[in-house]
Amino acid sequence: MTHVRWTLVLLIAAAPGCRPAPDRPDPVREFAGSYPEAATPDGALKTFELTAAETEVALIDGGALKVWAYNGQVPGPTLRVRLGDTVRVRFTNRLPQETTIHWHGVRVPNAMDGVPHATQPPIRPGASSTYEFTPKDAGTFWFHPHVRSSEQIERGLYGLLIVDDRAPPPYTRDVAWILDDWLLGADRQIVPHFNTPHDLMHDGRWGNAITVNGRTDTALKVAAGERVRLRLLNASNGRIYVPDLGGLDAKIIAVDGLYTRAPLPLARFELAPGNRLDLDLAITGGGRSLVVTDHFIPQRPNRLAEIEIDGTAATPSFASPAKAHVPAWSSALSMPLTHEFRLDARRGGALGIEWTIDDQAFAGHEHAHPSLVLARGRWSRLRFVNASARLHPIHLHGMFFKLLARDGIAVDEPFFRDTVLIHGRETIDIGLVPLDAGDWMMHCHILEHAEAGMMTMLAVRDPA
Ligand code: C2O
Ligand code: CU
Repeated sequence: MTHVRWTLVLLIAAAPGCRPAPDRPDPVREFAGSYPEAATPDGALKTFELTAAETEVALIDGGALKVWAYNGQVPGPTLRVRLGDTVRVRFTNRLPQETTIHWHGVRVPNAMDGVPHATQPPIRPGASSTYEFTPKDAGTFWFHPHVRSSEQIERGLYGLLIVDDRAPPPYTRDVAWILDDWLLGADRQIVPHFNTPHDLMHDGRWGNAITVNGRTDTALKVAAGERVRLRLLNASNGRIYVPDLGGLDAKIIAVDGLYTRAPLPLARFELAPGNRLDLDLAITGGGRSLVVTDHFIPQRPNRLAEIEIDGTAATPSFASPAKAHVPAWSSALSMPLTHEFRLDARRGGALGIEWTIDDQAFAGHEHAHPSLVLARGRWSRLRFVNASARLHPIHLHGMFFKLLARDGIAVDEPFFRDTVLIHGRETIDIGLVPLDAGDWMMHCHILEHAEAGMMTMLAVRDPA
Protein backbone atom coordinates (compact mmCIF):
# COMPACT_ATOMS: atom_id res chain seq x y z
CA MET A 1 0.00 0.00 0.00
CA THR A 2 2.73 2.38 1.04
CA HIS A 3 4.76 1.94 -2.10
CA VAL A 4 1.73 2.46 -4.32
CA ARG A 5 1.31 5.90 -2.85
CA TRP A 6 4.96 6.77 -3.24
CA THR A 7 4.92 5.69 -6.86
CA LEU A 8 2.09 8.11 -7.39
CA VAL A 9 4.02 10.92 -5.73
CA LEU A 10 7.06 10.26 -7.90
CA LEU A 11 5.02 10.14 -11.08
CA ILE A 12 3.39 13.44 -10.33
CA ALA A 13 6.63 15.04 -9.26
CA ALA A 14 8.25 13.88 -12.48
CA ALA A 15 5.41 15.09 -14.70
CA PRO A 16 6.35 18.11 -16.77
CA GLY A 17 5.14 21.42 -15.36
CA CYS A 18 1.83 22.52 -16.82
CA ARG A 19 3.07 25.15 -19.21
CA PRO A 20 0.32 26.73 -21.30
CA ALA A 21 0.63 26.72 -25.06
CA PRO A 22 1.65 30.19 -26.28
CA ASP A 23 -1.82 30.90 -27.71
CA ARG A 24 -3.61 30.20 -24.43
CA PRO A 25 -3.83 32.58 -21.49
CA ASP A 26 -1.44 31.62 -18.71
CA PRO A 27 -3.56 30.69 -15.66
CA VAL A 28 -0.81 31.76 -13.28
CA ARG A 29 -0.67 35.20 -14.85
CA GLU A 30 -4.49 35.39 -14.78
CA PHE A 31 -4.36 34.46 -11.10
CA ALA A 32 -1.87 37.19 -10.18
CA GLY A 33 -3.37 39.71 -7.77
CA SER A 34 -6.14 37.40 -6.52
CA TYR A 35 -4.84 37.27 -2.94
CA PRO A 36 -1.46 37.90 -1.37
CA GLU A 37 1.32 35.42 -1.05
CA ALA A 38 2.54 36.74 2.30
CA ALA A 39 0.92 38.28 5.36
CA THR A 40 1.61 41.91 6.23
CA PRO A 41 1.87 41.93 10.03
CA ASP A 42 1.60 45.69 10.52
CA GLY A 43 -1.28 45.66 13.01
CA ALA A 44 -1.65 44.78 16.66
CA LEU A 45 -1.08 41.52 18.50
CA LYS A 46 -4.52 40.28 19.61
CA THR A 47 -4.43 37.68 22.35
CA PHE A 48 -7.39 35.43 23.12
CA GLU A 49 -7.88 32.78 25.79
CA LEU A 50 -9.90 29.73 24.79
CA THR A 51 -10.83 26.80 26.98
CA ALA A 52 -12.72 23.77 25.78
CA ALA A 53 -14.77 22.03 28.46
CA GLU A 54 -17.99 20.18 29.15
CA THR A 55 -20.74 22.49 30.30
CA GLU A 56 -24.49 23.03 30.26
CA VAL A 57 -26.13 25.91 28.37
CA ALA A 58 -29.67 27.02 27.61
CA LEU A 59 -29.82 26.09 23.94
CA ILE A 60 -32.13 24.96 21.15
CA ASP A 61 -35.50 26.08 22.60
CA GLY A 62 -34.03 27.23 25.90
CA GLY A 63 -33.75 23.98 27.86
CA ALA A 64 -30.46 22.98 29.51
CA LEU A 65 -28.29 21.12 27.03
CA LYS A 66 -25.08 19.31 27.98
CA VAL A 67 -22.47 20.36 25.44
CA TRP A 68 -18.75 20.70 24.91
CA ALA A 69 -18.01 24.37 24.49
CA TYR A 70 -15.31 26.97 23.99
CA ASN A 71 -15.39 29.39 26.93
CA GLY A 72 -18.72 27.98 28.10
CA GLN A 73 -20.74 29.12 25.09
CA VAL A 74 -22.13 27.62 21.88
CA PRO A 75 -21.27 28.96 19.36
CA GLY A 76 -17.89 29.72 20.88
CA PRO A 77 -16.72 33.32 21.18
CA THR A 78 -16.20 35.20 17.91
CA LEU A 79 -12.54 36.07 17.57
CA ARG A 80 -12.35 39.35 15.70
CA VAL A 81 -9.27 41.06 14.33
CA ARG A 82 -8.37 43.42 11.53
CA LEU A 83 -6.25 42.49 8.54
CA GLY A 84 -2.62 43.04 9.56
CA ASP A 85 -3.23 41.99 13.17
CA THR A 86 -1.60 38.90 14.58
CA VAL A 87 -3.82 36.36 16.32
CA ARG A 88 -2.50 34.63 19.41
CA VAL A 89 -4.75 32.04 21.03
CA ARG A 90 -3.83 30.48 24.34
CA PHE A 91 -5.82 27.31 24.41
CA THR A 92 -6.51 24.91 27.29
CA ASN A 93 -8.09 21.52 26.88
CA ARG A 94 -10.46 20.58 29.72
CA LEU A 95 -12.24 17.93 27.66
CA PRO A 96 -12.11 14.24 28.52
CA GLN A 97 -10.34 13.68 25.16
CA GLU A 98 -7.39 14.93 23.16
CA THR A 99 -8.14 17.80 20.81
CA THR A 100 -6.59 20.48 18.55
CA ILE A 101 -7.90 23.65 16.91
CA HIS A 102 -8.02 24.00 13.15
CA TRP A 103 -8.50 27.46 11.58
CA HIS A 104 -10.79 26.60 8.70
CA GLY A 105 -10.08 28.67 5.58
CA VAL A 106 -7.26 30.68 7.11
CA ARG A 107 -3.93 30.45 5.28
CA VAL A 108 -1.86 29.86 8.41
CA PRO A 109 1.75 28.64 8.61
CA ASN A 110 1.55 24.85 8.32
CA ALA A 111 2.59 24.31 11.96
CA MET A 112 -0.51 26.29 13.12
CA ASP A 113 -3.01 24.20 11.11
CA GLY A 114 -4.13 22.06 14.05
CA VAL A 115 -3.84 18.67 12.38
CA PRO A 116 -2.94 16.13 15.08
CA HIS A 117 0.38 14.31 14.63
CA ALA A 118 0.93 15.93 11.23
CA THR A 119 1.36 19.57 12.26
CA GLN A 120 1.32 19.27 16.07
CA PRO A 121 0.95 16.66 18.80
CA PRO A 122 -2.66 16.31 19.95
CA ILE A 123 -3.38 18.41 23.05
CA ARG A 124 -4.03 16.06 25.96
CA PRO A 125 -6.75 16.62 28.57
CA GLY A 126 -5.48 19.25 31.01
CA ALA A 127 -2.78 20.49 28.61
CA SER A 128 -2.42 23.87 26.91
CA SER A 129 -1.10 25.04 23.58
CA THR A 130 -0.67 28.38 21.81
CA TYR A 131 -1.59 29.18 18.22
CA GLU A 132 -0.20 32.28 16.54
CA PHE A 133 -0.57 33.53 12.98
CA THR A 134 -1.17 36.65 10.94
CA PRO A 135 -4.14 36.17 8.60
CA LYS A 136 -3.35 36.91 4.97
CA ASP A 137 -6.97 37.43 3.96
CA ALA A 138 -9.88 39.37 5.42
CA GLY A 139 -13.18 37.54 5.71
CA THR A 140 -15.36 35.07 7.59
CA PHE A 141 -13.46 32.05 8.89
CA TRP A 142 -14.08 29.57 11.67
CA PHE A 143 -12.30 27.29 14.06
CA HIS A 144 -13.06 23.78 15.26
CA PRO A 145 -11.29 20.67 16.58
CA HIS A 146 -9.52 18.31 14.19
CA VAL A 147 -9.59 15.30 16.53
CA ARG A 148 -12.67 13.06 16.53
CA SER A 149 -14.42 15.94 14.75
CA SER A 150 -17.67 14.07 14.19
CA GLU A 151 -18.10 13.97 17.97
CA GLN A 152 -16.34 17.16 19.11
CA ILE A 153 -17.93 19.55 16.59
CA GLU A 154 -21.31 17.88 17.04
CA ARG A 155 -21.11 18.46 20.80
CA GLY A 156 -20.72 22.21 20.23
CA LEU A 157 -17.07 23.05 19.63
CA TYR A 158 -16.95 25.74 16.96
CA GLY A 159 -16.62 29.49 16.66
CA LEU A 160 -16.03 32.25 14.14
CA LEU A 161 -12.82 34.05 13.34
CA ILE A 162 -13.70 37.29 11.58
CA VAL A 163 -10.89 39.20 9.92
CA ASP A 164 -12.08 42.72 9.11
CA ASP A 165 -10.86 44.67 6.13
CA ARG A 166 -8.38 47.44 6.82
CA ALA A 167 -11.24 49.84 6.05
CA PRO A 168 -14.45 47.87 6.68
CA PRO A 169 -17.41 48.87 4.49
CA PRO A 170 -19.97 50.90 6.48
CA TYR A 171 -22.78 48.35 6.88
CA THR A 172 -25.33 49.47 9.46
CA ARG A 173 -25.05 46.03 11.05
CA ASP A 174 -22.67 43.09 10.82
CA VAL A 175 -24.40 39.89 11.92
CA ALA A 176 -23.22 36.29 11.99
CA TRP A 177 -25.54 33.29 11.85
CA ILE A 178 -24.06 29.88 12.49
CA LEU A 179 -26.28 27.10 11.19
CA ASP A 180 -26.15 23.76 12.97
CA ASP A 181 -28.36 20.78 13.56
CA TRP A 182 -28.52 18.54 16.61
CA LEU A 183 -29.57 14.95 16.97
CA LEU A 184 -31.50 14.90 20.23
CA GLY A 185 -32.87 11.88 22.05
CA ALA A 186 -36.14 11.59 23.99
CA ASP A 187 -34.33 13.21 26.93
CA ARG A 188 -33.70 16.29 24.71
CA GLN A 189 -29.94 15.70 25.03
CA ILE A 190 -27.34 15.01 22.34
CA VAL A 191 -27.54 11.35 21.29
CA PRO A 192 -24.14 10.09 22.45
CA HIS A 193 -23.62 7.53 19.68
CA PHE A 194 -21.37 8.85 16.97
CA ASN A 195 -20.31 7.42 13.59
CA THR A 196 -23.28 5.04 13.53
CA PRO A 197 -23.62 2.66 10.56
CA HIS A 198 -26.59 4.75 9.39
CA ASP A 199 -24.61 8.00 9.45
CA LEU A 200 -21.63 6.37 7.76
CA MET A 201 -23.67 4.84 4.95
CA HIS A 202 -25.61 8.04 4.30
CA ASP A 203 -24.60 11.69 4.31
CA GLY A 204 -23.35 11.77 7.88
CA ARG A 205 -25.32 12.72 10.97
CA TRP A 206 -28.37 14.86 10.24
CA GLY A 207 -30.06 16.17 13.36
CA ASN A 208 -33.68 16.65 14.36
CA ALA A 209 -33.29 20.21 15.64
CA ILE A 210 -31.92 22.98 13.44
CA THR A 211 -30.54 26.06 15.14
CA VAL A 212 -29.11 29.44 14.26
CA ASN A 213 -26.52 30.49 16.82
CA GLY A 214 -27.63 27.56 18.98
CA ARG A 215 -31.30 28.62 19.18
CA THR A 216 -34.48 27.83 17.30
CA ASP A 217 -35.89 31.31 18.05
CA THR A 218 -33.20 33.50 16.50
CA ALA A 219 -34.62 36.78 15.22
CA LEU A 220 -32.83 39.71 13.65
CA LYS A 221 -34.42 43.08 14.30
CA VAL A 222 -33.65 45.72 11.68
CA ALA A 223 -35.14 48.86 10.19
CA ALA A 224 -36.10 49.51 6.58
CA GLY A 225 -33.30 51.36 4.86
CA GLU A 226 -30.52 49.51 6.66
CA ARG A 227 -27.79 47.62 4.84
CA VAL A 228 -26.77 44.54 6.73
CA ARG A 229 -23.81 42.25 6.28
CA LEU A 230 -25.02 38.78 7.18
CA ARG A 231 -22.35 36.11 7.57
CA LEU A 232 -23.55 32.52 7.33
CA LEU A 233 -21.58 29.46 8.39
CA ASN A 234 -22.65 25.85 8.13
CA ALA A 235 -21.20 24.10 11.20
CA SER A 236 -23.28 20.94 10.81
CA ASN A 237 -21.65 17.53 10.55
CA GLY A 238 -23.50 16.59 7.40
CA ARG A 239 -26.56 18.71 6.64
CA ILE A 240 -26.56 21.02 3.60
CA TYR A 241 -28.58 24.25 3.64
CA VAL A 242 -29.93 26.29 0.74
CA PRO A 243 -30.78 29.57 2.47
CA ASP A 244 -33.81 31.55 1.34
CA LEU A 245 -34.08 35.04 2.78
CA GLY A 246 -37.85 35.24 2.41
CA GLY A 247 -37.86 37.66 -0.50
CA LEU A 248 -35.33 40.11 0.87
CA ASP A 249 -32.86 41.66 -1.57
CA ALA A 250 -29.78 39.54 -0.74
CA LYS A 251 -26.52 39.62 -2.68
CA ILE A 252 -23.58 37.29 -2.16
CA ILE A 253 -20.45 39.34 -1.56
CA ALA A 254 -18.08 36.68 -0.23
CA VAL A 255 -17.77 32.89 -0.36
CA ASP A 256 -15.59 30.94 2.08
CA GLY A 257 -14.14 34.21 3.34
CA LEU A 258 -12.99 35.85 0.11
CA TYR A 259 -14.91 38.55 -1.73
CA THR A 260 -16.54 37.65 -5.03
CA ARG A 261 -15.72 39.39 -8.32
CA ALA A 262 -19.04 41.23 -8.15
CA PRO A 263 -22.15 41.07 -5.97
CA LEU A 264 -24.15 38.01 -7.02
CA PRO A 265 -27.83 37.18 -6.62
CA LEU A 266 -28.28 34.66 -3.80
CA ALA A 267 -30.24 32.24 -6.02
CA ARG A 268 -29.81 28.60 -4.95
CA PHE A 269 -26.51 28.36 -3.11
CA GLU A 270 -25.69 25.03 -1.49
CA LEU A 271 -24.09 25.85 1.84
CA ALA A 272 -22.30 22.60 2.66
CA PRO A 273 -20.59 21.84 5.99
CA GLY A 274 -17.64 24.21 6.30
CA ASN A 275 -18.90 26.75 3.73
CA ARG A 276 -19.42 30.42 4.55
CA LEU A 277 -21.46 32.99 2.70
CA ASP A 278 -21.40 36.75 3.31
CA LEU A 279 -24.59 38.47 2.20
CA ASP A 280 -25.31 42.14 1.56
CA LEU A 281 -28.94 42.72 2.60
CA ALA A 282 -30.83 45.81 1.49
CA ILE A 283 -33.69 46.06 3.97
CA THR A 284 -36.97 47.41 2.64
CA GLY A 285 -40.61 47.48 3.70
CA GLY A 286 -40.95 48.35 7.38
CA GLY A 287 -43.56 46.73 9.65
CA ARG A 288 -43.20 43.15 8.55
CA SER A 289 -41.53 39.98 9.56
CA LEU A 290 -39.83 37.49 7.22
CA VAL A 291 -39.08 33.84 7.75
CA VAL A 292 -35.67 32.62 6.63
CA THR A 293 -35.77 29.03 5.45
CA ASP A 294 -33.60 26.25 4.10
CA HIS A 295 -34.64 24.69 0.79
CA PHE A 296 -31.99 22.04 0.22
CA ILE A 297 -34.80 19.53 -0.12
CA PRO A 298 -37.30 21.77 -1.96
CA GLN A 299 -40.40 19.86 -0.88
CA ARG A 300 -39.30 19.88 2.79
CA PRO A 301 -38.22 23.41 3.73
CA ASN A 302 -36.86 24.06 7.22
CA ARG A 303 -37.40 27.20 9.24
CA LEU A 304 -34.11 28.81 10.25
CA ALA A 305 -34.78 32.25 11.72
CA GLU A 306 -36.81 35.40 11.44
CA ILE A 307 -36.06 38.93 10.29
CA GLU A 308 -38.28 41.61 11.86
CA ILE A 309 -38.34 44.88 9.95
CA ASP A 310 -39.33 48.07 11.75
CA GLY A 311 -39.82 51.70 10.76
CA THR A 312 -37.23 53.40 8.63
CA ALA A 313 -33.59 54.31 8.87
CA ALA A 314 -31.35 56.32 6.61
CA THR A 315 -30.14 54.27 3.65
CA PRO A 316 -26.38 54.24 3.52
CA SER A 317 -24.94 54.42 0.07
CA PHE A 318 -21.56 52.86 -0.58
CA ALA A 319 -20.06 50.63 -3.23
CA SER A 320 -20.17 46.89 -2.62
CA PRO A 321 -16.86 45.51 -1.37
CA ALA A 322 -17.37 42.57 -3.75
CA LYS A 323 -14.93 43.56 -6.48
CA ALA A 324 -12.15 41.03 -6.06
CA HIS A 325 -9.84 39.93 -8.80
CA VAL A 326 -10.91 36.40 -9.65
CA PRO A 327 -9.36 34.75 -12.72
CA ALA A 328 -11.72 33.60 -15.46
CA TRP A 329 -9.61 30.53 -16.24
CA SER A 330 -11.91 30.04 -19.22
CA SER A 331 -9.52 27.77 -21.11
CA ALA A 332 -8.71 25.80 -17.96
CA LEU A 333 -10.52 22.67 -19.11
CA SER A 334 -8.14 22.32 -22.04
CA MET A 335 -5.12 22.39 -19.72
CA PRO A 336 -3.64 19.06 -18.64
CA LEU A 337 -5.13 17.36 -15.59
CA THR A 338 -2.76 17.21 -12.63
CA HIS A 339 -4.58 14.37 -10.90
CA GLU A 340 -7.93 12.62 -10.80
CA PHE A 341 -9.20 11.54 -7.37
CA ARG A 342 -11.74 8.78 -7.07
CA LEU A 343 -14.14 8.93 -4.10
CA ASP A 344 -15.81 5.72 -3.02
CA ALA A 345 -16.80 3.46 -0.13
CA ARG A 346 -16.23 -0.15 0.79
CA ARG A 347 -16.88 -2.50 3.69
CA GLY A 348 -14.18 -2.83 6.29
CA GLY A 349 -12.15 -0.84 8.77
CA ALA A 350 -12.81 -0.21 12.44
CA LEU A 351 -16.23 1.38 11.73
CA GLY A 352 -17.44 -1.30 9.32
CA ILE A 353 -17.48 1.02 6.31
CA GLU A 354 -14.57 2.93 4.87
CA TRP A 355 -14.77 6.05 2.72
CA THR A 356 -11.85 6.11 0.32
CA ILE A 357 -9.88 8.50 -1.86
CA ASP A 358 -8.10 6.60 -4.65
CA ASP A 359 -8.96 3.35 -2.84
CA GLN A 360 -7.12 4.48 0.29
CA ALA A 361 -8.83 5.00 3.63
CA PHE A 362 -6.91 7.46 5.77
CA ALA A 363 -4.94 5.32 8.19
CA GLY A 364 -4.63 7.93 10.94
CA HIS A 365 -2.46 10.99 11.08
CA GLU A 366 0.44 9.06 12.61
CA HIS A 367 0.93 7.24 9.31
CA ALA A 368 -0.03 10.04 6.99
CA HIS A 369 2.08 11.15 4.10
CA PRO A 370 1.02 13.21 1.11
CA SER A 371 -0.78 11.42 -1.69
CA LEU A 372 -0.01 14.21 -4.16
CA VAL A 373 2.60 16.93 -4.46
CA LEU A 374 1.56 20.27 -5.92
CA ALA A 375 4.06 22.87 -7.09
CA ARG A 376 3.82 26.11 -5.16
CA GLY A 377 2.94 29.06 -7.39
CA ARG A 378 2.06 26.83 -10.34
CA TRP A 379 -1.32 25.98 -11.79
CA SER A 380 -2.98 22.64 -11.05
CA ARG A 381 -6.21 21.14 -12.23
CA LEU A 382 -7.69 18.44 -10.01
CA ARG A 383 -10.63 16.22 -10.84
CA PHE A 384 -12.83 14.44 -8.32
CA VAL A 385 -14.89 11.50 -9.53
CA ASN A 386 -17.58 10.61 -7.04
CA ALA A 387 -18.12 6.92 -7.64
CA SER A 388 -20.62 6.81 -4.77
CA ALA A 389 -24.21 7.96 -4.51
CA ARG A 390 -23.55 10.09 -1.43
CA LEU A 391 -22.62 13.76 -0.93
CA HIS A 392 -19.01 14.81 -0.41
CA PRO A 393 -18.23 18.44 0.42
CA ILE A 394 -14.50 18.34 -0.26
CA HIS A 395 -12.39 20.78 1.74
CA LEU A 396 -8.77 21.71 1.16
CA HIS A 397 -6.66 23.16 3.96
CA GLY A 398 -4.14 25.89 3.21
CA MET A 399 -5.41 26.93 -0.22
CA PHE A 400 -8.35 28.32 -2.13
CA PHE A 401 -9.53 26.89 -5.41
CA LYS A 402 -12.04 27.69 -8.12
CA LEU A 403 -14.69 25.29 -9.38
CA LEU A 404 -14.16 24.82 -13.13
CA ALA A 405 -16.69 22.20 -14.17
CA ARG A 406 -19.41 19.84 -13.05
CA ASP A 407 -19.68 16.64 -15.07
CA GLY A 408 -17.40 18.12 -17.70
CA ILE A 409 -19.57 21.19 -18.22
CA ALA A 410 -17.73 24.43 -17.52
CA VAL A 411 -19.12 26.56 -14.71
CA ASP A 412 -17.97 30.10 -14.09
CA GLU A 413 -18.14 30.78 -10.41
CA PRO A 414 -16.75 34.29 -10.00
CA PHE A 415 -15.24 33.40 -6.61
CA PHE A 416 -12.81 31.11 -4.86
CA ARG A 417 -13.80 28.44 -2.36
CA ASP A 418 -12.21 26.22 0.26
CA THR A 419 -15.07 23.69 0.24
CA VAL A 420 -17.21 22.45 -2.63
CA LEU A 421 -20.14 20.04 -2.55
CA ILE A 422 -19.85 17.06 -4.88
CA HIS A 423 -23.19 15.35 -5.48
CA GLY A 424 -23.71 11.61 -5.85
CA ARG A 425 -22.06 10.17 -9.01
CA GLU A 426 -20.89 13.63 -10.00
CA THR A 427 -17.46 14.58 -11.34
CA ILE A 428 -16.02 18.02 -10.72
CA ASP A 429 -12.87 19.84 -11.80
CA ILE A 430 -11.18 22.53 -9.76
CA GLY A 431 -8.28 24.83 -10.57
CA LEU A 432 -5.81 26.30 -8.13
CA VAL A 433 -2.49 28.00 -7.69
CA PRO A 434 -1.32 27.04 -4.19
CA LEU A 435 0.78 29.73 -2.55
CA ASP A 436 1.39 28.26 0.89
CA ALA A 437 4.01 25.55 1.33
CA GLY A 438 3.33 22.61 3.62
CA ASP A 439 1.48 19.35 3.98
CA TRP A 440 -2.23 20.19 3.94
CA MET A 441 -5.25 18.02 4.66
CA MET A 442 -7.86 17.42 2.03
CA HIS A 443 -11.02 15.72 3.26
CA CYS A 444 -14.74 15.38 3.07
CA HIS A 445 -16.38 17.84 5.49
CA ILE A 446 -19.17 15.37 6.22
CA LEU A 447 -17.37 14.55 9.41
CA GLU A 448 -18.48 10.91 9.58
CA HIS A 449 -17.08 10.32 6.09
CA ALA A 450 -13.81 11.94 7.14
CA GLU A 451 -13.63 9.81 10.30
CA ALA A 452 -14.22 6.71 8.19
CA GLY A 453 -11.25 7.44 5.95
CA MET A 454 -12.13 10.17 3.45
CA MET A 455 -9.05 12.25 4.20
CA THR A 456 -5.66 12.58 2.62
CA MET A 457 -2.83 15.09 2.48
CA LEU A 458 -1.61 17.30 -0.33
CA ALA A 459 1.94 18.57 -0.18
CA VAL A 460 2.66 22.01 -1.58
CA ARG A 461 6.36 22.33 -2.32
CA ASP A 462 8.56 24.77 -4.17
CA PRO A 463 8.99 23.54 -7.71
CA ALA A 464 12.38 21.94 -8.34
CU1 C2O B 1 -13.18 22.52 8.72
CU2 C2O B 1 -10.10 19.90 8.04
O1 C2O B 1 -11.65 21.21 8.38
CU1 CU C 1 -18.27 12.61 2.11
